[in-house]
Amino acid sequence: MKIAIDGPAGAGKSTVARRVAEQLGMLYIDTGAMYRALTYIALRASCPMTDEAALRALLDQMKLVLDVTADGQRVYVNEEDVTDPIRTPDVTGHVSTVAAHPAVREKMTELQREMARARSVVMDGRDIGTHVLPDAELKIFLTASIEERAERRLRELEQRGIAADRGQLMADIAERDRKDSERETAPLKQAEDAQLLDTTGLGIDRVVERIVALYEEQVGER
Ligand code: DC
Repeated sequence: MKIAIDGPAGAGKSTVARRVAEQLGMLYIDTGAMYRALTYIALRASCPMTDEAALRALLDQMKLVLDVTADGQRVYVNEEDVTDPIRTPDVTGHVSTVAAHPAVREKMTELQREMARARSVVMDGRDIGTHVLPDAELKIFLTASIEERAERRLRELEQRGIAADRGQLMADIAERDRKDSERETAPLKQAEDAQLLDTTGLGIDRVVERIVALYEEQVGER
C-alpha cells in the first residue's frame, strides 16, 4: 500500500504524513529532506547550484539514509547527522534551484522508488503522485492559504530559535511555489486522481483523521 502526499511548501505535509504513517503502521518518507540534504552538501562544498553535472556527481557519491526514530525522522549523509542543518534558511533558499535539475531528479526518483519497493509507505513531496509513485493507491494534494503557510513556518522556525519576518516568509514561500510549479521536470502539480484537501483553518488532527478515513474507504473497496 502506498500513500502519496504532495503539495506546496508549508501546507503541513510532513507533520500530517508522519502522523498518518504512525497511525497506519507504515513507513514515512520525507522526500524534501533528500533534496535538502543534497543542497546542504553542495553549499558546504561550494558547488554552484546551477552546475547540474557536479550536483549529480555529488549525489552519486552520497550515502543518503532516512532513519525513523521515536522523535521523528533523522537524515544522514555518509553517516553524518544532517537533520538540523538541512532546515536552515540558507538551504531553504537554494533547494528549489537544486531540485529543478533533471539529472538530480532522475536519481532522487530512483532512490525513492527503491525505498518504497516492497514496503507500505507514506511518501510526501511535490511529484510523488504524478511521477515517483503513479500507482499509489491513495493520493492527497494538501494546500492551505499562503498566509497560513507563512504563519506555520514562522512558528516552526521560532520553535527552533530562528527569527523570521512574516512578510518575507510569505514572499519566499510564493517564490518557492513558483519555482517548484514552473520547472519543466516533474513540477508541483495535483495528480488527476489525487484528492484535494485544503487545510486552511483545519487542525492537524482533523487532517490526519480525514486521510485515515480516505485510506479506510480505499482499503474497504479492494
Ligand atoms: O518539502 P520541503 O520544503 O522540505 O522541500 C524542499 C524542496 O525540495 C522544495 O522546494 C521542492 C523540492 N522537492 C521536490 O522538488 N520534489 C519532491 N518530491 C520533494 C521536494
